[in-house]
Amino acid sequence: MRPFGAASYFTILKQIEVGQTPSIGFNAEAGKPGTMTGLTIDNISMRFDLPDGGHVQALKNVSLDLKAGELLSVLGPSGCGKTTLLNIVAGFLAPTDGKMILNGHEITGPDAERGMVFQQGALFEWMSVRENVGFGPSMKGMPKADKAKTVNHLLDVVGLQDFKEKAVYELSGGMQQRVALARCLANDPDVILMDEPLGALDALTREKMQSLVLKLWKETGKTIILITHSVEEALLLGERLIVMAPRPGRIHKEYRLPFAELGVNADLREVKKHPEFGPRREEILNMIWDMEEEIMGTKEDAA
Ligand SMILES: Nc1ncnc2c1ncn2[C@@H]1O[C@H](COP(=O)(O)OP(=O)(O)OP(=O)(O)O)[C@@H](O)[C@H]1O
Ligand SMILES: [Mg+2]
Repeated sequence: MRPFGAASYFTILKQIEVGQTPSIGFNAEAGKPGTMTGLTIDNISMRFDLPDGGHVQALKNVSLDLKAGELLSVLGPSGCGKTTLLNIVAGFLAPTDGKMILNGHEITGPDAERGMVFQQGALFEWMSVRENVGFGPSMKGMPKADKAKTVNHLLDVVGLQDFKEKAVYELSGGMQQRVALARCLANDPDVILMDEPLGALDALTREKMQSLVLKLWKETGKTIILITHSVEEALLLGERLIVMAPRPGRIHKEYRLPFAELGVNADLREVKKHPEFGPRREEILNMIWDMEEEIMGTKEDAA
């Protein structure tokens, strides 16, 4: 693992949480064409050298252009490099080859312009909901009144106004992930990176959160990269979807999909009835199934 520089965990945390420009509510301009240039992932490779002298080629020649405001979902079998790719875009890892350009400048480490939402457990347990969401604005010295406005607005958006003073451990898993989303948005990042953000939730809560993610995407105009193991979720939440393949980790197939746009104003169960949804799901499930079988060494040689 080759982290950028010698930043400690807390330095990184601070860099992630501290935003550059105070914002109250959403930066609705962020996703509009012309105000940002988007994210370019240019020929990224990542090789992990192992203590036994071996190595893992986690990513090889991954290239991707994301327009500002695009919502990309990423699928692929376990170990195909999804988290590695996200960590590189977040700036937690330096790639062994390639570069990334965000809004015209090269990514060289963590920065508040890129916010991360993890699967679970990334909240400050000892702080209230309000303090968690207000942490980034506090760190960048936002005036108290502005911070309160920002926090209140975000708590309204994620539906947690009544839980403002609760401790994080008093909340359900779904509520905690809503806090995590609000905390990320409080920094007003240009890009939101999500690694299995809904993976630990029960089916019903997950469905509600999927709708919330679509609503936040539309309202904020943020660029979002969302990793998931669920084919249905990737189809519902990705206006663009990439399927990655392992050994070495690479982009295998890309889709442009209508479902995220449809899901902004519709019940997601209705969206799943779209005539294209089922066939796409089957196609991608089979694709990933085949890859998993290959990894497990159970695929019969057709030759
Ligand atoms: N720090 C590391 N040192 C060595 N190998 C690593 C390291 N991090 C990841 N790898 C290897 O790189 C490959 C890609 O890992 P990664 O975590 O990105 O996969 P993933 O697609 O996110 O998998 P999952 O779906 O299980 O989360 C794997 O083979 C993994 O073992
Ligand atoms: Mg992963």
